[in-house]
Amino acid sequence: MKNLNLILAGVFFTVAAAWSGLVITAQVQLGSLGRAPSEEGGPLFPSREPGLAIQGRTVYLDLGCVACHTQQVRPAGQGSDIARGYGVRSSVARDYVLQSQVLIGQRRLGPDLANYGARAKSEVELAAFLRTPASGVNHPPYAFLDAERSTALVAYLKSLRQDYSSPEAKLKQ
Ligand code: HEC
Repeated sequence: MKNLNLILAGVFFTVAAAWSGLVITAQVQLGSLGRAPSEEGGPLFPSREPGLAIQGRTVYLDLGCVACHTQQVRPAGQGSDIARGYGVRSSVARDYVLQSQVLIGQRRLGPDLANYGARAKSEVELAAFLRTPASGVNHPPYAFLDAERSTALVAYLKSLRQDYSSPEAKLKQ
């Protein structure tokens, strides 16, 4: 086995190259992303989430909403998300920089919620929808939700917005 060292070196460099490709390149490209002004001199986006919405995210996680709802609008040409009204532009990495837990999701049984805040029902209607969906609406009922968690969850859903112009994804003129 006089070539053992050579083989080990080969294995090491293969793993190291793959690792740096995945981890370091992503970090270099995205690690320093921060908020950006929507227009020259405008406010910074994404906006900071209200405290109640941050609490609501934990309710959303607890109840498993992420199992059926994604939070990522695909670009036109890679699906019909924009045509369906899920968003006005595609989602970009910068949209998620302030989120401690990014709930992009994997499966979409219900509509995408990335920009739900822009089309949301009123607080009262949304809370009622989550507790007891109207008959004929295909949605699990969360009748056990107490007022405190329901209010936080509704605040979270209403805070979901990706309808500002971003350097990587301008709004259509
Ligand atoms: C079993 C899958 C499933 C789960 C779990 C689920 N949903 Fe849904 N959701 C759906 C489907 C399907 C629809 C579309 C219902 C319809 O309009 O008939 C929907 C619709 C919605 C809508 C309206 C979206 C729109 O564009 O009008 C909201 C808001 C929503 N869900 C929030 C939630 C929240 C919050 C949770 C967790 C508490 C949750 N959902 C859990 C499947 C699910």
